[in-house]
Amino acid sequence: MSLLRDHDLARAFDHASHTYDSLTSLNPGYRTDLLRSARRLRLPGDGAGLHILDLGCGTGASTLALLRAAPRARITAVDASAGMLRRATAKPWPAHVRFLHLTAEEVAAADEGPFDAVFAAYLFRNVTDPDALLGSVRTLLRPGGRLAVHEYSLSGSRTHRALWTAICRGVVIPAGTLTGDRALYRHLWHSVLAFDTAPAFRDRLTRAGFTGVRAAPVAGWQTGIVHTFLARNGLRAEGAGLPAGDGAGTAKERTR
Ligand SMILES: C[S@@+](CC[C@H](N)C(=O)[O-])C[C@H]1O[C@@H](n2cnc3c(N)ncnc32)[C@H](O)[C@@H]1O
Repeated sequence: MSLLRDHDLARAFDHASHTYDSLTSLNPGYRTDLLRSARRLRLPGDGAGLHILDLGCGTGASTLALLRAAPRARITAVDASAGMLRRATAKPWPAHVRFLHLTAEEVAAADEGPFDAVFAAYLFRNVTDPDALLGSVRTLLRPGGRLAVHEYSLSGSRTHRALWTAICRGVVIPAGTLTGDRALYRHLWHSVLAFDTAPAFRDRLTRAGFTGVRAAPVAGWQTGIVHTFLARNGLRAEGAGLPAGDGAGTAKERTR
C-alpha cells in the first residue's frame, strides 16, 4: 500500500483543491455528517466566549460545520495545503473565523492555544505520528476541553471493509482519476484500510490520556465506515473548561 505523507500529501491536496468541493458534494451526507459531528461537541451558548481549533480544515467544509454548531465561537482553522486553504479563504467568513497555513503538528509551537475544543475531520488517518499529534492536542486544549475527531475508521467487520473497497473501486477512484487526482484517491482508499478500526482509535485516545472517550456512528452508507470520536482533556479542573456533560450526545443521537 502506498500512502502519501507530509509534503507529498500537501502537494496532492494542492492539486485536488480545484475539484474537492464538487467531488465531496457528490457524497451524500458529507456536509450533514460534519455538522452532526461538530454538534456532538455540544458547545454551550452557541460557543460564546470559546476558542475552537479546526485541524486540517481543507476547503472549509469542517470550519463551516463548526460555525453552524457554534456561531458565536472564535474559530482558528489550519491546514498544511496552501491550495486547500486558498479555496477556504475565498469563501465569505465572519471576522471571528481565521485561517492559518500551518501543519497540525506545528500549531502548539506557533503558540496559538489554548482552545476550548478541537475538531479534526478526515485528518488523523493522514498524519505520520497520530500519538504525537494527540499529545500535542492535549497541550492545546484547556483542562476539560473537548475533542471531536470525524474520521473514516472502519467498524472492524468484514462487511464494512469490503463495502469500503467496493465504493473506492466503483466510485471514488474512477471519479478521482477523471479529475487527475488518482494517487490521492488511492491514498484515501488505502489509508482507511491501514488506519485504526473504531475500537482501536478509541483505545488510542484513552492511551493518550483523554477521558470520556466514545465513538458514535454516522448515518447513511457511511455507517460502520465513518465515526465521530468524542473525548475530553482529562478531568475537568474546578472552575475551568467547558461544563461537564455527555459530549457524545443523547443515546438517540449516538445510534443515528
Ligand atoms: C480530506 S481533507 C478534509 C478537509 C476538511 N476537514 C473537511 O472536512 O472537508 C484533509 C485535509 O487535511 C489536511 N492535512 C493532512 N495532513 C495534515 C497535517 N499534518 N497538518 C495539517 N493539515 C493536514 C490536508 O491538506 C487536507 O486539506
